[in-house]
Amino acid sequence: MTDIESLKGFYDRYPEEFAAWREVIDVVETTAAEFGFREIDTPAVERRELYEIKSGEELMDQTYSFEDKGGRAVTLTPEQTPTRARLVQQRKDLKTPIKWYDTSKRWRYENVQKGRDREFFQTDIDVFGIESVEADAEVIAVAATIYERLGVADRVEFLINDRTLLESILSAYGIDNTEAVMGVIDDKEKLSDAEFRTELLGVGVSSDIVDNVVETTSVRGPIREEVERMAAIAPDDEDAQAAVDRMADLADALESYGVADACKLDLSIVRGLAYYTGLVFEAFDSEGELRALFGGGRYDDLVGLFGSQDVPAVGFAFGYSTTRELLKKEGEWPSEALSTDVYVAAVSDDVREAALGFASELREAGLVVETGLAGRGLGGQFGYADSINAETVLIVGQRDLENDEVTVRDMASGDEEQVPVEDVVGELV
Ligand code: HAM
Repeated sequence: MTDIESLKGFYDRYPEEFAAWREVIDVVETTAAEFGFREIDTPAVERRELYEIKSGEELMDQTYSFEDKGGRAVTLTPEQTPTRARLVQQRKDLKTPIKWYDTSKRWRYENVQKGRDREFFQTDIDVFGIESVEADAEVIAVAATIYERLGVADRVEFLINDRTLLESILSAYGIDNTEAVMGVIDDKEKLSDAEFRTELLGVGVSSDIVDNVVETTSVRGPIREEVERMAAIAPDDEDAQAAVDRMADLADALESYGVADACKLDLSIVRGLAYYTGLVFEAFDSEGELRALFGGGRYDDLVGLFGSQDVPAVGFAFGYSTTRELLKKEGEWPSEALSTDVYVAAVSDDVREAALGFASELREAGLVVETGLAGRGLGGQFGYADSINAETVLIVGQRDLENDEVTVRDMASGDEEQVPVEDVVGELV
């Protein structure tokens, strides 16, 4: 017999484990839906060019790409943002704001480690068609609400930056290859101070400027305070001033949503993806070493790359792998167990039809109900009911039925009571 394991970074998830995942995904999706985001569904495989346009080299290196049987270069979706840009471009009739969410799998050939897998879920949440900070604040508010509901709001901080602000500060230091320098800044959290300095020198930052870059990228503090400080020290050029003004407006909007306290301005946040045009943000466990819980930003030019209409956009992708680590550490990861409301046990074959009748009525009333499929005796059925964590077992026997009754057993206490047939649904719902 050949023993074939799943690929590294790909996971088999059995029902007990996936029940916990489902609970967390439901929190994320329900929150997005409550804010008026609508669910979409998109292909798992796309033409490779879709990502070549603007996702950046790092992501391209990690894609699962191959030639399909028709000779097309195709790629397993490493992220959904380019697909969404295509969808928005294709439909000029959509009313703005266009607010979409979707949870699906992504594939990236990464170094597998805690929080980094090769196949993983993301829930993408984006607003298209709104240029103002109101949309920025709304997506951050959705994220904050999600973490509140997951019970870890006090452990999550949102680090926010504006690429144009950082870029103008770097330019004001006389740096002209800002893109390469920002690439090094993007790696800062993975590097020691000495390594960071060496890398900066390596991309041509002169030694008398390195300290300034280190100092700038160490700015991290409450958004309101830091914006005021930036207003005083930002370079006197149009882009920088506009970015500071916008950040001040964003701080106001975040306050209106009641989420400003969780937000910090952090000038080292750059994000690897090449399409972001201004605002970028990531969330982190405030006490941990974990990599980003999610990441996003504003990408006002991406939709326009796919056709004639320009549509501004902002959003993020919620990552489950790191969030799961955090929830586990905090004891907030849902229990990995099956749950069942009622198991209907038929004492003998001749009451099976009656048992199925009860099961179907209880399902109509919204309960999760199982009945015996395996032809087990009553003892075996109790054992099975226990293994699926049934809260109640409805025992259907010939003698009870003759009195228009059934027996209801509470599995936690073991208590049993006779219940008139017509009261069964009312009693168990
Ligand atoms: P990203 O930063 O590449 O952004 O991914 C967002 C989040 O997905 C990460 O913060 C992380 O939680 C999770 N993630 C990424 N790669 C992996 C992996 N290999 N294993 C497990 N989790 C991972 C994007 O994907 C953008 N498309 C987000 C976006 C949406 N920007 C605007 N709208």
